[in-house]
Amino acid sequence: MTLEELESAAKECIACRLSEKRRNVAFGDGNPNSPLVLVGEGPGDQEDQQGKPFVGKAGQLLNKALADAGLSREIVYITNTVKCRAADWSTGKPVNRPPTDDETLTCRQWLVPQLALIKPQVILCIGSPSAKNLIKKDFKITVDRGRYFPCEFARTAIATLHPAYILRQQSPTNDGGYSLLVADLMKAWEAAQKLASKPPRPQAVPAALIE
Ligand code: URA
Repeated sequence: MTLEELESAAKECIACRLSEKRRNVAFGDGNPNSPLVLVGEGPGDQEDQQGKPFVGKAGQLLNKALADAGLSREIVYITNTVKCRAADWSTGKPVNRPPTDDETLTCRQWLVPQLALIKPQVILCIGSPSAKNLIKKDFKITVDRGRYFPCEFARTAIATLHPAYILRQQSPTNDGGYSLLVADLMKAWEAAQKLASKPPRPQAVPAALIE
């Protein structure tokens, strides 16, 4: 299956209740041949409207951080933990909410093959829900941000602050962690470039297979 075929199938997904209210599936954007994949949390209003990840306010800050790191959306590949908008509709008006564990688990049926087809050298998890999904359940962004971790879906994974969090923290005297986001993007890209030029070490053959 190609990435395009996977995306077409994802657009028809009705595996969880997020499909009931979505306008569009925001599957992914950017360069699918990139050694670096960014994985956020999930689409918001703008992403749901345009069918693309990170195109609202948080996306604009991410674009600025990418540019400040010497990168762009066209150089990396960007996607999310869940591909449809999670919102609370109880008041009639949608209010964004984090995806539930169930929704995250269900949406792995798209994220896992997506990453398997792209085969990135490095995954940069944007925010803690993504890091909990792809690195480890007890990931703590305050402790573990900016560190390399083993990852099933890439040669290594790192996590950084979510631009939506940075926007909430920013004040005239505080960049809200923006400089950390830029530094982590640079670090992840440098690692991705380095790893892309080094073939993976052949896996040791288990003794049981030799005998
Ligand atoms: N926040 C995310 O995590 N992803 C998006 O696509 C937009 C906002």
